Amino acid sequence: LKRKKISVIGAGFTGATAAFLAAQKELGDVVLVDIPDAENPTKGKALDMWEAAPVQGFDSYVKGTSNYEDTADSDVVIITAGVARKPGMSRDDLVQINQKVMKSVSGQIAKYSPNATIIVLTNPVDAMTYTVYKETGFPKNRVIGQSGVLDTARFCAFVAEELNISVKDIRGFVLGGHGDTMVPLTRYSYAGGIPLEKLISPERLEEIVQRTRVGGGEIVNLLGNGSAYYAPAAALIEMAEAIIKDQKRVLPSIAYLEGEYGYDGIYLGVPTLLGAEGVEKIFELDLTDSEKAALDVSAQAVRDVMAVLE
Ligand code: APR
Repeated sequence: LKRKKISVIGAGFTGATAAFLAAQKELGDVVLVDIPDAENPTKGKALDMWEAAPVQGFDSYVKGTSNYEDTADSDVVIITAGVARKPGMSRDDLVQINQKVMKSVSGQIAKYSPNATIIVLTNPVDAMTYTVYKETGFPKNRVIGQSGVLDTARFCAFVAEELNISVKDIRGFVLGGHGDTMVPLTRYSYAGGIPLEKLISPERLEEIVQRTRVGGGEIVNLLGNGSAYYAPAAALIEMAEAIIKDQKRVLPSIAYLEGEYGYDGIYLGVPTLLGAEGVEKIFELDLTDSEKAALDVSAQAVRDVMAVLE
Protein backbone atom coordinates (compact mmCIF):
# COMPACT_ATOMS: atom_id res chain seq x y z
CA LEU A 1 0.00 0.00 0.00
CA LYS A 2 1.22 3.45 -0.90
CA ARG A 3 1.63 6.08 1.74
CA LYS A 4 -1.18 8.65 1.93
CA LYS A 5 -0.58 12.22 0.85
CA ILE A 6 -1.92 15.42 2.34
CA SER A 7 -1.46 18.79 0.71
CA VAL A 8 -1.94 21.98 2.68
CA ILE A 9 -2.55 25.05 0.52
CA GLY A 10 -1.53 28.26 2.29
CA ALA A 11 1.63 27.98 4.38
CA GLY A 12 0.70 30.70 6.84
CA PHE A 13 0.13 30.25 10.55
CA THR A 14 -2.75 27.78 10.28
CA GLY A 15 -1.48 25.90 7.25
CA ALA A 16 2.01 25.41 8.66
CA THR A 17 0.64 24.30 12.02
CA ALA A 18 -1.73 21.84 10.33
CA ALA A 19 1.11 20.47 8.20
CA PHE A 20 3.27 19.86 11.27
CA LEU A 21 0.40 18.15 13.11
CA ALA A 22 -0.31 15.94 10.09
CA ALA A 23 3.36 14.92 9.93
CA GLN A 24 3.56 14.27 13.67
CA LYS A 25 0.49 12.06 13.43
CA GLU A 26 1.98 10.29 10.38
CA LEU A 27 -1.20 10.80 8.40
CA GLY A 28 0.97 10.57 5.29
CA ASP A 29 3.50 12.62 3.37
CA VAL A 30 2.77 16.32 3.59
CA VAL A 31 3.09 18.96 0.88
CA LEU A 32 2.94 22.58 1.99
CA VAL A 33 2.05 25.02 -0.79
CA ASP A 34 2.05 28.79 -1.05
CA ILE A 35 2.37 31.44 -3.76
CA PRO A 36 5.65 31.75 -5.75
CA ASP A 37 6.55 34.93 -3.84
CA ALA A 38 6.54 32.87 -0.64
CA GLU A 39 8.35 29.87 -2.07
CA ASN A 40 11.54 30.14 -0.01
CA PRO A 41 9.78 30.65 3.35
CA THR A 42 7.47 27.75 2.48
CA LYS A 43 10.45 25.51 1.68
CA GLY A 44 12.12 26.69 4.87
CA LYS A 45 9.12 25.82 7.03
CA ALA A 46 8.79 22.38 5.45
CA LEU A 47 12.51 21.64 5.83
CA ASP A 48 12.39 22.79 9.45
CA MET A 49 9.51 20.35 10.09
CA TRP A 50 11.31 17.50 8.34
CA GLU A 51 14.35 18.16 10.52
CA ALA A 52 12.12 17.47 13.53
CA ALA A 53 11.30 14.02 12.17
CA PRO A 54 14.43 12.28 13.55
CA VAL A 55 13.72 13.75 16.99
CA GLN A 56 10.04 12.94 17.02
CA GLY A 57 10.39 9.74 15.05
CA PHE A 58 7.83 10.37 12.35
CA ASP A 59 8.26 8.99 8.85
CA SER A 60 6.10 11.54 7.05
CA TYR A 61 8.13 13.57 4.60
CA VAL A 62 7.33 17.28 4.47
CA LYS A 63 7.89 19.21 1.26
CA GLY A 64 7.48 22.94 0.67
CA THR A 65 6.63 24.21 -2.80
CA SER A 66 4.75 26.69 -4.96
CA ASN A 67 4.39 24.13 -7.74
CA TYR A 68 1.11 22.21 -7.73
CA GLU A 69 2.70 19.33 -9.62
CA ASP A 70 4.15 18.39 -6.24
CA THR A 71 0.62 17.94 -4.86
CA ALA A 72 -0.35 15.36 -7.51
CA ASP A 73 -2.57 12.54 -6.32
CA SER A 74 -3.18 13.93 -2.85
CA ASP A 75 -5.74 12.02 -0.80
CA VAL A 76 -6.73 15.05 1.25
CA VAL A 77 -6.19 18.73 0.42
CA ILE A 78 -6.58 21.34 3.15
CA ILE A 79 -7.15 24.94 2.05
CA THR A 80 -6.03 27.71 4.41
CA ALA A 81 -4.93 30.08 1.63
CA GLY A 82 -6.32 33.56 1.63
CA VAL A 83 -6.11 36.90 3.28
CA ALA A 84 -7.40 37.96 6.65
CA ARG A 85 -9.59 41.03 6.95
CA LYS A 86 -7.48 44.11 7.45
CA PRO A 87 -8.52 47.49 8.83
CA GLY A 88 -10.41 49.40 6.13
CA MET A 89 -11.35 46.28 4.18
CA SER A 90 -15.07 45.62 4.01
CA ARG A 91 -16.47 42.17 4.58
CA ASP A 92 -17.59 42.12 0.96
CA ASP A 93 -14.08 42.97 -0.25
CA LEU A 94 -12.75 40.06 1.77
CA VAL A 95 -15.32 37.71 0.25
CA GLN A 96 -14.33 38.64 -3.28
CA ILE A 97 -10.58 38.55 -2.64
CA ASN A 98 -10.74 35.12 -1.04
CA GLN A 99 -13.17 33.92 -3.70
CA LYS A 100 -10.46 34.66 -6.30
CA VAL A 101 -7.96 32.70 -4.23
CA MET A 102 -10.39 29.76 -4.00
CA LYS A 103 -10.92 29.83 -7.75
CA SER A 104 -7.23 29.65 -8.57
CA VAL A 105 -6.51 27.03 -5.92
CA SER A 106 -9.52 24.91 -6.97
CA GLY A 107 -8.36 24.72 -10.57
CA GLN A 108 -4.97 23.42 -9.51
CA ILE A 109 -6.41 20.85 -7.12
CA ALA A 110 -8.88 19.56 -9.71
CA LYS A 111 -6.07 19.28 -12.26
CA TYR A 112 -3.58 17.40 -10.11
CA SER A 113 -5.68 15.58 -7.50
CA PRO A 114 -9.05 14.81 -9.08
CA ASN A 115 -9.82 12.18 -6.43
CA ALA A 116 -8.92 14.22 -3.36
CA THR A 117 -11.24 15.17 -0.54
CA ILE A 118 -10.94 18.89 0.20
CA ILE A 119 -11.30 20.54 3.60
CA VAL A 120 -11.67 24.34 3.51
CA LEU A 121 -10.80 26.69 6.36
CA THR A 122 -10.54 30.07 4.62
CA ASN A 123 -13.18 32.58 5.75
CA PRO A 124 -16.00 33.26 5.24
CA VAL A 125 -15.83 29.48 5.29
CA ASP A 126 -19.35 28.52 4.20
CA ALA A 127 -19.19 30.64 1.04
CA MET A 128 -15.57 29.66 0.34
CA THR A 129 -16.46 25.96 0.62
CA TYR A 130 -19.33 26.55 -1.80
CA THR A 131 -16.91 28.27 -4.20
CA VAL A 132 -14.49 25.34 -4.08
CA TYR A 133 -17.40 22.93 -4.67
CA LYS A 134 -18.52 24.86 -7.76
CA GLU A 135 -15.01 25.47 -9.12
CA THR A 136 -13.69 21.92 -8.73
CA GLY A 137 -16.88 20.21 -9.85
CA PHE A 138 -16.10 17.55 -7.25
CA PRO A 139 -19.00 15.60 -5.72
CA LYS A 140 -20.45 17.31 -2.66
CA ASN A 141 -19.23 14.62 -0.25
CA ARG A 142 -15.61 15.44 -1.16
CA VAL A 143 -15.77 19.20 -0.51
CA ILE A 144 -16.16 20.00 3.16
CA GLY A 145 -15.68 23.06 5.37
CA GLN A 146 -14.36 23.31 8.90
CA SER A 147 -15.97 25.35 11.64
CA GLY A 148 -17.96 23.12 13.97
CA VAL A 149 -15.03 21.03 15.15
CA LEU A 150 -13.30 24.23 16.29
CA ASP A 151 -16.42 25.74 17.86
CA THR A 152 -17.08 22.47 19.69
CA ALA A 153 -13.47 22.29 20.85
CA ARG A 154 -13.67 25.79 22.28
CA PHE A 155 -16.91 24.97 24.05
CA CYS A 156 -15.47 21.72 25.47
CA ALA A 157 -12.29 23.48 26.63
CA PHE A 158 -14.32 26.06 28.55
CA VAL A 159 -16.59 23.40 30.06
CA ALA A 160 -13.63 21.21 31.10
CA GLU A 161 -12.05 24.20 32.82
CA GLU A 162 -15.35 25.14 34.51
CA LEU A 163 -16.03 21.64 35.87
CA ASN A 164 -12.42 20.56 36.38
CA ILE A 165 -13.22 17.45 34.35
CA SER A 166 -10.94 15.96 31.68
CA VAL A 167 -11.45 17.33 28.18
CA LYS A 168 -11.57 13.68 27.11
CA ASP A 169 -14.96 13.28 28.79
CA ILE A 170 -16.61 16.44 27.50
CA ARG A 171 -18.79 16.24 24.39
CA GLY A 172 -20.26 19.34 22.79
CA PHE A 173 -22.57 19.73 19.84
CA VAL A 174 -23.00 22.70 17.52
CA LEU A 175 -24.92 23.36 14.33
CA GLY A 176 -24.95 26.26 11.91
CA GLY A 177 -22.40 28.92 11.09
CA HIS A 178 -19.11 29.86 12.66
CA GLY A 179 -19.04 32.18 15.66
CA ASP A 180 -21.93 34.61 15.96
CA THR A 181 -24.48 32.41 14.23
CA MET A 182 -23.34 29.16 15.83
CA VAL A 183 -26.27 27.11 17.17
CA PRO A 184 -25.13 25.19 20.26
CA LEU A 185 -27.21 22.16 21.18
CA THR A 186 -26.44 22.03 24.88
CA ARG A 187 -29.06 19.33 25.35
CA TYR A 188 -26.79 17.07 23.32
CA SER A 189 -23.69 18.00 25.35
CA TYR A 190 -22.27 15.72 28.02
CA ALA A 191 -19.52 15.15 30.58
CA GLY A 192 -18.81 11.42 30.68
CA GLY A 193 -22.36 10.72 29.50
CA ILE A 194 -23.97 13.05 32.08
CA PRO A 195 -25.95 15.85 30.40
CA LEU A 196 -24.18 19.17 30.99
CA GLU A 197 -27.53 20.70 31.91
CA LYS A 198 -27.37 18.56 35.10
CA LEU A 199 -23.90 19.83 36.01
CA ILE A 200 -23.95 23.53 35.12
CA SER A 201 -26.66 26.12 35.80
CA PRO A 202 -28.53 27.42 32.74
CA GLU A 203 -27.12 30.92 33.33
CA ARG A 204 -23.52 29.70 33.52
CA LEU A 205 -24.01 27.41 30.52
CA GLU A 206 -25.32 30.36 28.53
CA GLU A 207 -22.22 32.37 29.50
CA ILE A 208 -20.00 29.56 28.26
CA VAL A 209 -21.96 29.37 25.01
CA GLN A 210 -21.58 33.11 24.56
CA ARG A 211 -17.83 32.93 25.20
CA THR A 212 -17.66 30.17 22.57
CA ARG A 213 -19.53 32.33 20.04
CA VAL A 214 -16.93 35.08 20.36
CA GLY A 215 -14.04 32.67 20.90
CA GLY A 216 -12.28 33.74 17.71
CA GLY A 217 -12.48 37.39 18.74
CA GLU A 218 -11.09 36.63 22.20
CA ILE A 219 -7.95 35.21 20.57
CA VAL A 220 -7.68 38.07 18.07
CA ASN A 221 -7.80 40.57 20.94
CA LEU A 222 -5.16 38.73 22.94
CA LEU A 223 -2.79 38.19 20.01
CA GLY A 224 -3.07 41.82 18.95
CA ASN A 225 -1.95 40.96 15.44
CA GLY A 226 -3.44 37.91 13.74
CA SER A 227 -6.02 35.26 14.50
CA ALA A 228 -6.20 31.82 16.07
CA TYR A 229 -4.27 29.01 14.44
CA TYR A 230 -3.37 26.22 16.89
CA ALA A 231 -6.94 25.06 17.56
CA PRO A 232 -8.09 25.70 13.97
CA ALA A 233 -5.20 23.57 12.72
CA ALA A 234 -6.01 20.82 15.23
CA ALA A 235 -9.63 20.88 14.04
CA LEU A 236 -8.56 20.51 10.41
CA ILE A 237 -6.35 17.57 11.27
CA GLU A 238 -9.09 15.80 13.24
CA MET A 239 -11.26 15.94 10.11
CA ALA A 240 -8.39 14.90 7.82
CA GLU A 241 -7.55 11.96 10.07
CA ALA A 242 -11.19 10.79 10.07
CA ILE A 243 -11.10 10.73 6.27
CA ILE A 244 -7.62 9.29 5.76
CA LYS A 245 -8.15 6.50 8.29
CA ASP A 246 -11.81 5.95 7.32
CA GLN A 247 -12.68 6.37 10.99
CA LYS A 248 -16.43 6.97 10.52
CA ARG A 249 -16.32 9.82 13.04
CA VAL A 250 -19.42 11.77 13.94
CA LEU A 251 -18.16 15.33 13.59
CA PRO A 252 -19.76 18.62 12.65
CA SER A 253 -18.86 19.59 9.09
CA ILE A 254 -19.85 22.36 6.75
CA ALA A 255 -21.68 20.19 4.26
CA TYR A 256 -23.68 20.84 1.10
CA LEU A 257 -27.38 20.61 1.85
CA GLU A 258 -29.98 19.49 -0.63
CA GLY A 259 -33.12 19.53 1.44
CA GLU A 260 -31.62 18.49 4.79
CA TYR A 261 -32.92 20.63 7.65
CA GLY A 262 -35.17 22.32 5.06
CA TYR A 263 -32.33 24.09 3.19
CA ASP A 264 -31.29 23.63 -0.39
CA GLY A 265 -28.16 24.64 -2.29
CA ILE A 266 -26.11 26.00 0.59
CA TYR A 267 -23.19 24.88 2.70
CA LEU A 268 -23.99 24.86 6.43
CA GLY A 269 -22.60 23.29 9.62
CA VAL A 270 -24.39 20.00 10.39
CA PRO A 271 -23.52 16.74 12.13
CA THR A 272 -21.90 14.36 9.67
CA LEU A 273 -20.29 10.96 9.41
CA LEU A 274 -16.72 11.45 8.17
CA GLY A 275 -14.90 8.56 6.54
CA ALA A 276 -13.01 7.61 3.39
CA GLU A 277 -15.76 9.02 1.17
CA GLY A 278 -15.68 12.38 2.98
CA VAL A 279 -19.15 13.29 4.21
CA GLU A 280 -20.73 9.84 4.14
CA LYS A 281 -23.93 10.86 5.88
CA ILE A 282 -25.68 13.93 7.26
CA PHE A 283 -27.52 13.34 10.51
CA GLU A 284 -30.86 15.11 10.66
CA LEU A 285 -32.10 15.82 14.17
CA ASP A 286 -35.44 17.07 15.37
CA LEU A 287 -34.93 20.67 16.46
CA THR A 288 -36.96 22.73 18.89
CA ASP A 289 -38.63 25.83 17.49
CA SER A 290 -35.97 28.10 18.95
CA GLU A 291 -33.14 25.92 17.62
CA LYS A 292 -34.71 25.91 14.16
CA ALA A 293 -35.15 29.69 14.31
CA ALA A 294 -31.46 30.09 15.24
CA LEU A 295 -30.44 27.77 12.41
CA ASP A 296 -32.57 29.85 10.00
CA VAL A 297 -30.56 32.92 11.05
CA SER A 298 -27.35 30.98 10.33
CA ALA A 299 -28.59 29.86 6.92
CA GLN A 300 -29.64 33.40 6.04
CA ALA A 301 -26.21 34.71 7.06
CA VAL A 302 -24.63 32.20 4.67
CA ARG A 303 -26.99 33.28 1.86
CA ASP A 304 -26.13 36.95 2.52
CA VAL A 305 -22.45 36.21 2.02
CA MET A 306 -23.13 34.04 -1.04
CA ALA A 307 -24.98 36.99 -2.59
CA VAL A 308 -21.65 38.86 -2.64
CA LEU A 309 -19.90 36.10 -4.63
CA GLU A 310 -19.10 37.05 -8.20
N1 APR B 1 -2.32 30.29 -3.13
C1 APR B 1 -1.64 29.77 -2.09
N2 APR B 1 -1.47 30.43 -0.94
C2 APR B 1 -1.99 31.66 -0.84
C3 APR B 1 -2.72 32.26 -1.89
C4 APR B 1 -2.87 31.52 -3.08
N3 APR B 1 -3.53 32.00 -4.14
N4 APR B 1 -3.12 33.49 -1.47
C5 APR B 1 -2.66 33.65 -0.22
N5 APR B 1 -1.97 32.55 0.16
C6 APR B 1 -1.27 32.30 1.42
C7 APR B 1 -0.55 33.51 1.97
O1 APR B 1 0.66 33.76 1.26
C8 APR B 1 -0.33 33.09 3.42
O2 APR B 1 0.91 32.41 3.60
O3 APR B 1 -2.18 31.94 2.45
C9 APR B 1 -1.48 32.09 3.68
C10 APR B 1 -2.45 32.57 4.75
O4 APR B 1 -1.79 32.52 5.94
P1 APR B 1 -1.98 33.59 7.13
O5 APR B 1 -2.08 34.95 6.54
O6 APR B 1 -0.93 33.29 8.15
O7 APR B 1 -3.43 33.26 7.67
P2 APR B 1 -3.86 32.18 8.76
O8 APR B 1 -3.83 32.79 10.11
O9 APR B 1 -3.12 30.91 8.55
O10 APR B 1 -5.39 31.96 8.36
C11 APR B 1 -5.71 31.35 7.15
O11 APR B 1 -7.96 30.89 7.68
O12 APR B 1 -8.87 31.77 9.58
C12 APR B 1 -8.99 31.67 8.18
O13 APR B 1 -9.87 33.17 6.65
C13 APR B 1 -8.86 33.05 7.60
O14 APR B 1 -7.64 33.66 5.67
C14 APR B 1 -7.53 33.09 6.94
C15 APR B 1 -7.14 31.62 6.81
